Amino acid sequence: MTRKILVTGRLPGEVLSALAEQFDAASQHEDRPMERRRLLDAVGDKEGLLCMITDSIDEELLSHAPRLKMIANLGVGYNNIDVRAATARGIPVSNTPGVLTEATADLAFTLLLAIARRVVEGDRRVRAGEFRFWAPFLFLGREVSGKTLGIIGMGRIGKAVAQRARGFDMSVMYHNRSRIESSEEDRLGAGYESMEELLRKSDFVSLHVPLMAETRHLIGRREIGLMKPSAYLINTSRGPVVDEQALLAALQAGQIAGAALDVYEHEPALTPGLTLLDNVILLPHVGSATLETRTLMAAMAARNLIAGLSGQTPPNVINPEVFS
Ligand code: DGY
Repeated sequence: MTRKILVTGRLPGEVLSALAEQFDAASQHEDRPMERRRLLDAVGDKEGLLCMITDSIDEELLSHAPRLKMIANLGVGYNNIDVRAATARGIPVSNTPGVLTEATADLAFTLLLAIARRVVEGDRRVRAGEFRFWAPFLFLGREVSGKTLGIIGMGRIGKAVAQRARGFDMSVMYHNRSRIESSEEDRLGAGYESMEELLRKSDFVSLHVPLMAETRHLIGRREIGLMKPSAYLINTSRGPVVDEQALLAALQAGQIAGAALDVYEHEPALTPGLTLLDNVILLPHVGSATLETRTLMAAMAARNLIAGLSGQTPPNVINPEVFS
């Protein structure tokens, strides 16, 4: 009998076809998260699950899925999955690392440039008919070239952001759980700093940590208080890494110059007040959203699913201990 799988989001046609050749594949065809009740009902007889970062794969879901043998997440971040609960049931979980590094770093840098040069705000003003004349001190932003960039989280994406900063002659400092190899520091021109010093010295702080218990509210009132009044915060990692209420208060009080966010603490909801501020850019979680990258992510998630259901170790397994 053909094994059943569930795909909870829209995939490129060729990827879905490849899955349908091997499995009885039920899938969500629209570009929206699968409604929870539907997800719980659909997962009951499935052996494989290719899920989106918007699906909460928790105890409740796992208890509805007694036949589940593999979970492939379409995303590098997997805070949506209770990996411990999956591991306890012997279910491998995979993610999609690497393929989205450049796209996400591009977006972080886009936000950095856009917030410093007031790109989105300028566009809004022009559309509102407020571009009436040029004047030397109107609509000034801040210089990016030569400034100091502080990167918190020096994994693949953090490093790719550092690489981009070199092209802008920026000084790059980073903070990470552990220091990277000194040859890597030299290649990237990046120096290690304590979190406090990084926050004190940076003109731009860009976040690239995964969401886990230790990084929830990593940037709160105290940390924002250490930043320069002229500094900007950029977040393309996960929303709950920042205490959004504390950020809002700091922005309202002019305690920092601005923030550019792609992710939110209570995504997709926004902390009320954020949209009223001109010194904030708000994007709808599009860090990896290029056609090329999302296509690669979908293919990678499918490869992981196929491997896991064939009894092989999925190339991007997060909990390899289930095989030991
Ligand atoms: C990821 O892969 O974790 C991204 O946030 C999805 O864009």
